[in-house]
Amino acid sequence: MTASPIGIGLLGYGTVGSAVDRLLQARQEDVTRVVGAPVEVRRALVRDASAPRDSNPRAGLLTSDFAEIRDDPSITVVAEVMGGIEPTRSWMLELFAAGKSVVTANKQLLARHGAELFAAAEEHGVQLRFEASVCAAIPVVKVLRESMIASEVNAVLGIVNGTTNFMLTAMAKGADYATVLAEAQALGYAEADPTEDVTGGDAAAKVAILASIAFHTRVTIDDVPHEGIDTLDSIDVAFAGDLGYSVKLIGQARRVEQGVVVGVAPTLVPRAHPLSAVDGSFNAVMLRGDAIREVTLVGPGAGGDETASAVIGDLMGVLGTSNSGFLRADGFFRSLPIVPADDVESALYLRLDVRDQPGVLATIASILADDQVSIDSVVQRASDGRAQLVIVTHPAREGAARHAIQRIADLDVCEGTPVVLRVLSAG
Ligand code: NAP
Ligand code: HSE
Repeated sequence: MTASPIGIGLLGYGTVGSAVDRLLQARQEDVTRVVGAPVEVRRALVRDASAPRDSNPRAGLLTSDFAEIRDDPSITVVAEVMGGIEPTRSWMLELFAAGKSVVTANKQLLARHGAELFAAAEEHGVQLRFEASVCAAIPVVKVLRESMIASEVNAVLGIVNGTTNFMLTAMAKGADYATVLAEAQALGYAEADPTEDVTGGDAAAKVAILASIAFHTRVTIDDVPHEGIDTLDSIDVAFAGDLGYSVKLIGQARRVEQGVVVGVAPTLVPRAHPLSAVDGSFNAVMLRGDAIREVTLVGPGAGGDETASAVIGDLMGVLGTSNSGFLRADGFFRSLPIVPADDVESALYLRLDVRDQPGVLATIASILADDQVSIDSVVQRASDGRAQLVIVTHPAREGAARHAIQRIADLDVCEGTPVVLRVLSAG
């Protein structure tokens, strides 16, 4: 005899929400086998329940009244796939108070209000799971929280935004920025406001979440300095190509002696590096630690079905572990300081617009040397008395390198603001 169906609620029936509903129905047999009962979406919240939709929801599924989900006793778990900070945060707190566990894809909310939300879930004896908030189909949250529970992870590094990786891959082949951004939006990769993707804000939220669960300390989005690809000049992508690098938006979190270093920036990645070959909307996360050495997870980092797969995995996880303590606590048991980027070492790419005359390169090299910055390679393209001078440095303390770059920018022979990008080491 089949057990009675388990009710699920959805907050949101857009790209991800409609895919969760569709995949749950398509995989109903497997789901029933795993959970021991059929699982069905009872209600899905949208802004306008009467608007026509390509996803073709069945009659009576959509509602614009949150209370219909919160107060429905047949709904035990809710997937929050609507995004935004408010009213999402308040509604999530109301769901916990109503005894419902929540699965979320909302990295911005978690990276800002994670402490409050985890505490509330714990207080009400329900679960908050968030696999879909980081790298869509890649199960990196599960790996960090469950599989590596006994390993000391000391670095998390990778490509954590699908939209910008899709854009950079196309731009490296000559596509133009606005066209590929529109394409990423049409494919359902981009956030409702794609500014979050292109300015690095989406990746910064994911880095905050990854750093928090990898190092068991609270890191918020405000702790993560970030630059995006919106200010990246195609000339630098071309120079990087000539020098043997691809340009990727890299997020990283590292455990150092003094605390935790976090950041997101467009970065030159040597062609021989595994991250260099990760193209399109794929993401990749490298986890490093003593026991694990290096584990790399690669897969689709954005998209409706890809994200829905992670949401459904979490829904099954909640259903399979309710009435147990498994993964209930938020797992943060210490407080590590955030180390300013200036205090850590990185190799840098500099592009300078300089006068093409004797002694300029020597002066620049000498300023860099004053701050202990050593040059790895130099390329120059000159025309009409000026030169685009590209310098790649060996790893140097970033604060010292930026001091030297400011002195170079102040030289009479130098015009405009130098372009500074980070360079990933080959290993
Ligand atoms: P979306 O297509 O814009 O869908 C959002 C849904 O939420 C829509 O159905 C919308 O209703 C509903 N909604 C939004 N605000 C609401 C409000 N105040 N009241 C009631 N309903 C509201 O967004 P999405 O791409 O599915 O993304 C959803 C979440 O998943 C976001 O947190 C996003 O960061 C995350 N995520 C997305 C991806 C991806 O690849 N798309 C990947 C990972 C994580 P209407 O339909 O009536 O407008
Ligand atoms: N907009 C996000 C991205 C969705 O492009 O990576 C996945 O979190």
